[in-house]
Amino acid sequence: MIRLRIALLAVLIAGCQASPDRLHRSLGQFGGAEGLHQISRALVERSADDPQIGHFFADVDLVNLADRLAEHMCVELDGPCTYTGQPMPEAHFALGIRESDFNRMVELLQDIMDERGIDESAQNTLLARLAESRGEVIRQ
Ligand code: HEM
Repeated sequence: MIRLRIALLAVLIAGCQASPDRLHRSLGQFGGAEGLHQISRALVERSADDPQIGHFFADVDLVNLADRLAEHMCVELDGPCTYTGQPMPEAHFALGIRESDFNRMVELLQDIMDERGIDESAQNTLLARLAESRGEVIRQ
């Protein structure tokens, strides 16, 4: 498991793009829209409580954020759903998020998906899709 995490972080750090035909996108593997929403809520709550990245969320409407994040992840998994929030760069560039912050959030997400027993290939699918947004979240 530790080796898997290191491998995934290496993918994220490299900013690699997974080939779409190798991805098995399926909302069903995450418990449908409701399951994804629960994952999103848990991620937002743990991020806000986290010693490293919690400060980013101090003045944020966490309910709205969890709703928008669930929509965004749903679109990444090919839905069907619609993202109604801001574009990623507009939501993030002013925050000064570093690579280590991005990786911390990914770790929290992996923990949540592990706890919920999400299939490993499904986890990798979502993580690979989120990795593609990396350049829109971290301002170099
Ligand atoms: C690929 C990774 C990420 C995705 C897909 C993502 C997605 C989102 C979405 C959908 C929103 C809502 C935008 C809106 O309200 O219109 C948002 C806002 C936000 N994100 Fe992220 N995010 C990611 C990474 C991060 C990271 C690493 C951090 C901090 C460590 C972060 C901190 C925030 C904060 C603080 C907001 C609220 C901004 C505001 O309301 O002013 N995000 N993100």
